[in-house]
Amino acid sequence: MFPQERMRRLRSDERVRRMLTETRLHPDDFVLPLFFDESIDTVKYTESMPGVPTYPLTDAKKVAERLYSSGINAVMLFGIPRHKDRDGSGAYSADGVVQNAIRRIESCSDVLVIADLCLCEYTDHGHCGILSGGKVDNDLTLPKYRMVAESLADAGAHMVAPSGMMDGQVSNIREALDDSCHKEVSIMAYSAKFCSAFYGPFRDIAHSAPSGCGRESYQMNPANGREAMSEIRRDVEEGADIIMVKPAMPYLDIICQARKEFSLPLAAYQVSGEYAMIKAAAANGWLDERRAMMESLASIKRAGSDILISYFAEEAVKELKK
Ligand code: PBG
Repeated sequence: MFPQERMRRLRSDERVRRMLTETRLHPDDFVLPLFFDESIDTVKYTESMPGVPTYPLTDAKKVAERLYSSGINAVMLFGIPRHKDRDGSGAYSADGVVQNAIRRIESCSDVLVIADLCLCEYTDHGHCGILSGGKVDNDLTLPKYRMVAESLADAGAHMVAPSGMMDGQVSNIREALDDSCHKEVSIMAYSAKFCSAFYGPFRDIAHSAPSGCGRESYQMNPANGREAMSEIRRDVEEGADIIMVKPAMPYLDIICQARKEFSLPLAAYQVSGEYAMIKAAAANGWLDERRAMMESLASIKRAGSDILISYFAEEAVKELKK
């Protein structure tokens, strides 16, 4: 007890503090989301996501090479198609924007390519699935997801990441991959994806804000922790290789609980709104951007996530290599 015992003793020396750091970020922890737009010729920026470029397909090789040599181990690809339609057919076209981006990156770079698997960037209504009677129909959507999975794997994706929150999506995608000779392609399942306000800026980039109703009929109620564990358990049973919680910082309790209950690798997605908040506050001089970035990422890893999907990935890796 005090005064013999003093917690501050171990905080007084920088070298001791370094030695006793419990949670260490590593460049290999990170996945950087990348956006490709089929209809642009030069890189484009979105106001609500400062510093996050949308690339034309012609930049794919150059960008991938640069990122890999700067220490980025993995990227997660999103595509913005020239045309959107009712069924989101651009998502499973062999000549689709993401399929083309994957082929270009694969041909020249060693970076790990993870492809987001969803319809919302490709449907004219912005929903993640097929509409029937004004509602997103689970079972009509699954055959489309199978087609998307196969086409992403054909293009060369190493991993697919289904983010649509349809029931049965993981087992359907596993079967589609196995049936099309892609047994080695793994599934990073967005298992507990919450219906969150923090996706706002992403939808500015992807022009994927849903029309009519929101996504609450398929994404999870932010208030529900037990249900999140049920979602994850089902994805594990259906054959997910990696499970994910998304968003990250408002859901650290879910990450922590998932880490305790499941032994699979766990990813967390620090989403667009989490990034934009820090950027906006820093731009106003209200936060130290570098410290807020590193603290937010460390909190996600400390909660139990192995993999950090973040728009800060490149800056964080740079920081870690200093
Ligand atoms: C596609 C998808 C979304 C995000 C990742 N995959 C959009 C959504 O669900 O609205 C959001 C990522 C972010 O906000 O950074 N379904």
